[in-house]
Amino acid sequence: MRTLLPYMKKYWIYAVLSPILMILEVLADIIIPYLMSRIVDIGIANQDIDYIVRTGVIMILSALLAMAFGVMSAHAGARAGYGFAAEIRKDVFKKVQEFSFANLDRFTVSSLITRLTNDCNTLGQVTMMSLRLAIRAPFLMLFAVIMAFKINSSLAKVFMVAIPLTALGFILGLKKARPLFRKMQSRIDRVNAVIQENLIGIRVVKSFNRQEYEEKKFKERNDSLRDAAMEAISLVIMLMPMLNLLIYSTIIAVLWFGGQQVRIGNMGSGELISFITYITQVMMALMLISMFFMQLLRGIASGGRILEVLGTESEIKEIENPVKELKDGSIVFDHVSFKYPGSREFTLKDISFHVESGEMLGIIGSTGSSKSTLVQLIPRLYDVTEGSVIVGGVDVREYDIKALRDQVAFVLQKNTLFSGTIRDNMKWGNENATDEEIVRALKQAQAWEFVSKYEDGLDHWVEQGGSNFSGGQKQRLCIARALIKSPKIIILDDSTSAVDMSTDAKIQKTFKEELRDVTKIIIAQRISSIRNANRIIVMHEGQIESIGDHETLINTSPIYREIYESQEKGVVGE
Ligand SMILES: Nc1ncnc2c1ncn2[C@@H]1O[C@H](COP(=O)(O)OP(=O)(O)OP(=O)(O)O)[C@@H](O)[C@H]1O
Ligand SMILES: [Mg+2]
Repeated sequence: MRTLLPYMKKYWIYAVLSPILMILEVLADIIIPYLMSRIVDIGIANQDIDYIVRTGVIMILSALLAMAFGVMSAHAGARAGYGFAAEIRKDVFKKVQEFSFANLDRFTVSSLITRLTNDCNTLGQVTMMSLRLAIRAPFLMLFAVIMAFKINSSLAKVFMVAIPLTALGFILGLKKARPLFRKMQSRIDRVNAVIQENLIGIRVVKSFNRQEYEEKKFKERNDSLRDAAMEAISLVIMLMPMLNLLIYSTIIAVLWFGGQQVRIGNMGSGELISFITYITQVMMALMLISMFFMQLLRGIASGGRILEVLGTESEIKEIENPVKELKDGSIVFDHVSFKYPGSREFTLKDISFHVESGEMLGIIGSTGSSKSTLVQLIPRLYDVTEGSVIVGGVDVREYDIKALRDQVAFVLQKNTLFSGTIRDNMKWGNENATDEEIVRALKQAQAWEFVSKYEDGLDHWVEQGGSNFSGGQKQRLCIARALIKSPKIIILDDSTSAVDMSTDAKIQKTFKEELRDVTKIIIAQRISSIRNANRIIVMHEGQIESIGDHETLINTSPIYREIYESQEKGVVGE
């Protein structure tokens, strides 16, 4: 928890103010029963109306003061708590942005979402409540006990039985509750995972008529969350009646012993009334303490999950004095092998090839043959397990990561657009891009033909994930976004799969004519998309089956020939 403390820096004034105001509130609160006993024992006993009014006014003022301090303290507490949470959330978000693909694989996106929302919120709430409860309860108890002793010290001895008894109950309860809260938090994770997966894939779920199955899956996890929550809350529920029982027993004891003292004249009846009020306050304080600890348990569970994120270093580390500039777009793979983190088998096995700057390299192979894995190593989305990837004459691990990724544009296979205008999306590639540059990139990617038809042109709105565009339109926008970077290397991972053949051919033509100095790596399922490449790699089960240009491969690679023939026949058959 100490690691999280610096996040309070901006709000420390509120964090300090809240408890101070709280103490003032308690002081104002605590005096009221005392004043009441004075009214009964002095004012009423002597029938002194003047005294009653004077003390009554002070009582009302105290109550008003208590209220004012209470509101201010709550306000300061909320500011400190939620400000604290916001600062943490900001940093967790930043950290997640720095995460490598491997980190993301490990945490999973849904768990990160829960941590960013639910856990940060919990931490804020807990902080807010702690600032008030943790201070209020002990002070309330302390003052109330002092006042009770002041009124009648022999009667106040009941506390010596009541307080330890309650404390014991709480300690036992909390011990049991702790693991239960942790369980609850991880079940929230599981529920969020289904929700997230489902909402993102809701169209797929519907088209496969899988609602029922998904509902069942959701119900199971939802129920198990409910059960875990109930298990944890049941303990809390049990504590309340137990506490009440204790309060009433104590009051009865006080009435019994106190009544005798009033009868023999050792104690005023007003004193007895206020004594009982103080007892109730002490018991309330104990209840607040127990609530505080419950909250604290939730806070610790959430805080731990947040620290786990904050404490994770990206596996992709930069060296000191990294290289900032790619000399050219040449690429060399030197005996590269690669394993996904956590996976036992090698996904890439002993890959060696080279591409000259400005060349076009095609990659083809069956699904799962590790084409995407291969190209992800070039902008260092993952690090190699063995061997090295050399870009522009320098090992990718020696580059400044930002510089490397700025100069290697990658159109991912599972690409996405973001909510905003088309212009906003294009500016992802280059913040300073002018409209002319954007239009040029859109033209090169053959996207201008449909963008120019929109009345609002570049201001046309893109929904989250680009859901208001067709698959092929989306792919072309993604290609344009990559081109705006003016990269030295551009990688298209199956990025024209949804684009019709003739548009695909146009894209290739512009690539060849206008991007002469840019190294182009194109992964495709269609031979027609890559047949003009200077070199084509045929991937098979994580290895290079053969490498060469179209003509060579037709003669030397059985896999290539098979793909070619099946596609040719397909075209003839149409
Ligand atoms: N993030 C990941 N973590 C673990 N294993 C992965 C991950 N991504 C892919 N793999 C595994 O690596 C292998 C190669 O996958 P890859 O995506 O590189 O194939 P591909 O040739 O691009 O296939 P496709 O043509 O379908 O896109 C697959 O067996 C896959 O299960
Ligand atoms: Mg792929």
